[in-house]
Amino acid sequence: MKASMQISKNFQISKIDDRLYGSFIEHMGRAVYEGIYEPDHPTADEKGFRNDVKELIQELNIPLIRYPGGNFLSGYNWEDGIGPREERPKRLDLAWKTIETNEVGLHEFFDWSQEANAEINMAVNLGTRGVDDARRLVEYCNFPSGTELSDLRRQNGHEEPFAIKTWCLGNEMDGPWQIGQKSAVDYGKLAAQAGKAMKLVDDSIELVLCGSSSSEMPTFASWEAEVLEEAYDYVDYLSLHRYYGNQENDLENYLAKSIDMDNFIKSVIAVCDYVKAKKKSKKTINLSFDEWNVWYHSNEQDSKNEPWQIAPPILEDVYNFEDALLVGCLLITLMKNSDRVKIACLAQLVNVIAPIMTEKDGPAWRQTIFYPFMHASLYGRGIALTPNVQVDTYDSKDFADVPYLESIAVLNEDENELVIFAVNRSKDESIALDCELSDIELGQLKEATELAGFDIKAINNRDEEVVKTSNNKDVTVEAHRVKAQLKPLSWNVIRVSLV
Ligand code: AHR
Repeated sequence: MKASMQISKNFQISKIDDRLYGSFIEHMGRAVYEGIYEPDHPTADEKGFRNDVKELIQELNIPLIRYPGGNFLSGYNWEDGIGPREERPKRLDLAWKTIETNEVGLHEFFDWSQEANAEINMAVNLGTRGVDDARRLVEYCNFPSGTELSDLRRQNGHEEPFAIKTWCLGNEMDGPWQIGQKSAVDYGKLAAQAGKAMKLVDDSIELVLCGSSSSEMPTFASWEAEVLEEAYDYVDYLSLHRYYGNQENDLENYLAKSIDMDNFIKSVIAVCDYVKAKKKSKKTINLSFDEWNVWYHSNEQDSKNEPWQIAPPILEDVYNFEDALLVGCLLITLMKNSDRVKIACLAQLVNVIAPIMTEKDGPAWRQTIFYPFMHASLYGRGIALTPNVQVDTYDSKDFADVPYLESIAVLNEDENELVIFAVNRSKDESIALDCELSDIELGQLKEATELAGFDIKAINNRDEEVVKTSNNKDVTVEAHRVKAQLKPLSWNVIRVSLV
């Protein structure tokens, strides 16, 4: 099959916000304990954090990590995680029916995030708590000194403020499972007042308002409109959450699910702009897709879990090759919408629906989805160019006119390179891609990498990384043209230097 793509410097989607390649660590399952933190592990640093895990996270070059939840957030008291460890309470986590020891709290996580080279996207509990707690947490984290809370932070070991810039106003407040679930109007009013107080403490922060916990929620879209009606003036972003799965074992339909993500994003933009018009506001609300991933492999196992354990193995999806291909399509979809999606968080980072898995006392390894996420995060920085693509399409169970090629190019002038990301959705045919760049002069091919040729159900495990990258030797570069053979069912990254 043939595909052509025309790219021009004049057709730009947007400069991609680095925070598009964020991730998420929740105090649940083995994400924190036995994930990033395991004091008895042979690679543990002097603070108890695993160096092997830290190194894998550094490979991903993650700019932002959302913390501490998730559903956990809605019952969390941040004060439980500060001060001397031996005095910290053990608490019931009602969201996941486990016991939280609070061995890791704000200070430990902040220090760790610095070593992981990531900023924190902090979340305030608007489930069981409210305005007072929210403004106190911002003061504790971001106020320099001379007040009770800022001095308490200093006394607890952090002279300098944490200077946390991005804050979530609660989590999935529309969900019946959420502790302290609210109606859209009640949540919108609370978020507006919490946000107002938080910005009075520090007017440099940016706030994310909760959108629906999925586009499948019965209140989707009206929730977005109602919460924005209440909180528009105080917030900067609206959140989106969406997880995908191949429960039906229908590969063609599964790989088309990035179209659902695209539709979801476009619908949320429409609602944001409807409220903007209604309010006659000059301000535009951007999007924070702060939970996205594949999540379904672990559902059955999790239904058998015994409650009230410490750090039980939950949501431990083992990802296969087809999941990596969908994750590639989802990443390209985020880049295509980078004019409005400014923050996105792959949920999550370690052990819990994660690109990195660990074994207690044992190794840490890369799941299949690690690779597309790493490539996008490393090389998807710069200006997203409008992909003008001609390729055959197919119809699947839920989607019509699905292009066999999902692709985008990113112009990175800082690194003097152009990067093409592409997924071939066809299971039978290679795609001969002919990419024409009218006004961009190319130099040498720097690297052509592919994930291809694996059984679609192939997985990586503690002993063997079955699914990993190789070089695509079928790529040629001319001054204004890139030609490449993209194997059936493949994720591809082509990096070319600029003249
Ligand atoms: O990421 C796992 C869970 O998914 C989060 O806690 C919640 O926000 C969402 O429902």
